[in-house]
Amino acid sequence: MLKRKDLLGLKDITAEEIEEILSTASQMRKILDQNVKKTPHLQGKNVSLLFYENSTRTRTSFDTAGKIMGANTFSIAASTSSVSKGETLIDTGKNLDALLSDVIVLRHSMSGAPHLLAKNVSAGVINAGDGMNEHPTQALLDIYTMKEKFGDLKGLKVVIAGDIKHSRVARSNIWGLTKLGASVTVCAPKTLLPVGIEDMDVKVSCDLDECIVGANAVMGLRLQLERQQAGLFPSVAEYNAYYGINAARLNLADSDAVVMHPGPVNRGLELNSDVADCDQSYILRQVTNGVAVRMAVMFLLTRSKDKQI
Ligand code: CP
Repeated sequence: MLKRKDLLGLKDITAEEIEEILSTASQMRKILDQNVKKTPHLQGKNVSLLFYENSTRTRTSFDTAGKIMGANTFSIAASTSSVSKGETLIDTGKNLDALLSDVIVLRHSMSGAPHLLAKNVSAGVINAGDGMNEHPTQALLDIYTMKEKFGDLKGLKVVIAGDIKHSRVARSNIWGLTKLGASVTVCAPKTLLPVGIEDMDVKVSCDLDECIVGANAVMGLRLQLERQQAGLFPSVAEYNAYYGINAARLNLADSDAVVMHPGPVNRGLELNSDVADCDQSYILRQVTNGVAVRMAVMFLLTRSKDKQI
């Protein structure tokens, strides 16, 4: 049984813990499929959504998941909070503790910020994306979506293509997918591959046309223009020509392959519209599955904490 206060990443979590979250998410997904929008799983709990970076999917997904399970949810955007007056992350977290938060969902531009917060608050902390480090609930929903489609992940050929260097989604997916036995290939121009990526039990390629052949799942990643230094690739047109996922490239993958993307999508850059909107695109299914996964994570963490009291 999951026995932890926080979910900070998939690096430090076991395959069994991941399976428990996915199996609970499957129960939650059944509830959503019955169009039930009120359950008692988090009744009486307070969930604070503390976002220092913009978000559409993750914040709304946690908010929706919390509200469905009967929690009170509170959104705190750094730009409109006392963070803009100089309050530190730890002080903000301690105040959210004092405001009776049971769970704090944190997105922050600094890698390691959720780990620091978790050490300093009694609320459970969920990492909703920290810098270029991890985005564990995104990877869990990606993995859930692949399992829903393919069943067992052992030997599943997953290609993650795009801006690997700046991607917390890629890192969390690599940790999670490899723990569950998938075969992961990361593909990007050399300048968008982080140093040491080979040590993460993945295949590394700079040739998308080559590594996409026979893939079961093709995950595009957003080119994070806001985190780029100059000169990492010649032009967005050239990037799309060599690394854009389009219909011709998708034809090289397995005929039953799924196309995935964490969003937001830069259409015509890392993903062309003919692929983003095709029948093989699971992008919006990922989003709905994200609600089920976040319901599962918040339920399991708060249950674990309640049992320790
Ligand atoms: N996938 C994801 O993290 O999207 P948002 O930035 O919209 O939350």
